[in-house]
Amino acid sequence: MMRKITVVGAGHVGATLAQRVAEKSLAREVVLLDILEGIPQGKALDEWQAGPVEGFDTRVVGTNSYGAAAGSEMFLMTAGIARKPGMSRDDLVRTNVDIVKAVSQEIKAVAPNAMIIVVSNPLDVMCWVTKEVTGFPRDRVFGMAGVLDTARYRTFLGEALNVSVEDIQAMVLGGHGDTMVPLISYTTVSGIPVTQLMDRATLDKIVDRTRKGGGEIVSYLKTGSAYYAPAAAAAQMAEAIVLDKKRILPCAAYLQGEYGLSDIYLGVPCKLGQGGLEGIIEVELSKDEKAALKKSADSVKETIDLVKL
Ligand code: APR
Repeated sequence: MMRKITVVGAGHVGATLAQRVAEKSLAREVVLLDILEGIPQGKALDEWQAGPVEGFDTRVVGTNSYGAAAGSEMFLMTAGIARKPGMSRDDLVRTNVDIVKAVSQEIKAVAPNAMIIVVSNPLDVMCWVTKEVTGFPRDRVFGMAGVLDTARYRTFLGEALNVSVEDIQAMVLGGHGDTMVPLISYTTVSGIPVTQLMDRATLDKIVDRTRKGGGEIVSYLKTGSAYYAPAAAAAQMAEAIVLDKKRILPCAAYLQGEYGLSDIYLGVPCKLGQGGLEGIIEVELSKDEKAALKKSADSVKETIDLVKL
């Protein structure tokens, strides 16, 4: 258990995430921080009072001040605006760069040794902003996207195959957007290659629905974007670190030569444990998968190039 984990942003994703972190008893104290007065305080008090029912002793504290976050071992960054119908994640870039930059400066000041898991979108670009502003090493700044994209992919596969989602192993790599790369060659059901269980046309439809998974939810919600599965995914990453599980999960990581790419954040298989991002695993990719990953990297790089810090 950590001593203190701070969730920045008490909106849909942040508040849900704080609740999951408390329910999993990942820290003695969970700080929920937002610029809106009263919102983090009210939500935190409400979440804390679920403790006796859910069986956790984690104290959930709401605040508008970074003083309360001082000394946190981990920050979960969810501050920023969410998508509305017709918007891509990249449309959020101007507003969210300013927000994530401001938050990163505050984190650096109050918790220079902390680990930061970024959730704000466009994810790969926000990870880059966080790293640039804090100057933290890559093992302490990484992002949540692949776990969510993989969860969507596994959900749709489980439904189509009528099997438990728990038995589906898969990886979705690349940027968190329409160019993401679900790896069909590494998708198995208890070790059985998925291509032996499903025809290619059905698989292609599922891959397409996965790529557009976030947009499908935005088009229903109209006033915001997904938050239950994103919060669950970020909580799983936090849990892997707090419990030093050495889990292999797809995360947005800063690449320094891996996959032939450098100075860019992109979704790749990572090992998560006590040390944060403890390693990046380079897997063999087919020619098509390599090309798709390169295309995804180009698209992330294009957006990064537009950012002025
Ligand atoms: N510091 C702290 N909190 C901030 C700041 C800031 N500088 N700027 C904005 N916020 C807060 C807002 O006040 C709001 O409460 O961030 C919260 C965002 O909450 P929502 O609007 O509900 O958005 P949410 O659905 O939680 O998405 C947050 O996560 O998944 C991504 O794309 C999503 O970028 C978006 C982020």
